[in-house]
Amino acid sequence: MSQVIAKLQEDHRRMTVLLEVLERETVAFSKGENLNFFMVETILDYIVNFPQRCHHPIENFLLKSLTRRNYEAGAVAAEILNEHEELTNIISRFAKEVEQVKLEEPILRENLVNTVREYKELLLEHMHKEETIFFPAAEQSLIQADWDVIETRMRDKGDPVFGREADREYRALHKVIVDWGGR
Ligand SMILES: [Fe+2]
Repeated sequence: MSQVIAKLQEDHRRMTVLLEVLERETVAFSKGENLNFFMVETILDYIVNFPQRCHHPIENFLLKSLTRRNYEAGAVAAEILNEHEELTNIISRFAKEVEQVKLEEPILRENLVNTVREYKELLLEHMHKEETIFFPAAEQSLIQADWDVIETRMRDKGDPVFGREADREYRALHKVIVDWGGR
């Protein structure tokens, strides 16, 4: 398997872990506990920014290369891009709900857990689609030069889009959340 795909799959696993922590926090809130703002906002930072900065740019590059090398297989690209947008919309709604709770505005406690579950369901389905359709198609259709471009850019520390600096920061943040959230 290409190192690029291995990295993307690991990102997915790390997202799955955070979904569990986030769901647990919002379930506790729906049952009357205080919302752990620090925890929820830290998870939001990760869930909003990590994909945008470190994950989707790589997927977008692969989707473009896939469409170029194999137009038919590239059909999945539109679906994937739409889902990225849909996921962004759901998580923005969740961020607004958290803000409402913070400002003590009236809001049903179960709204938060419902939004997290909606997000979780779509994201799990989406990652499954990427892992079973998109990534295998990319591995089949991309040529070595495509992988070389992206791997070279990922190794370049100064590369603002594919460099691994932000990736390392978020990896550290993920560890903090899991250590703390697994209490
Ligand atoms: Fe992905």
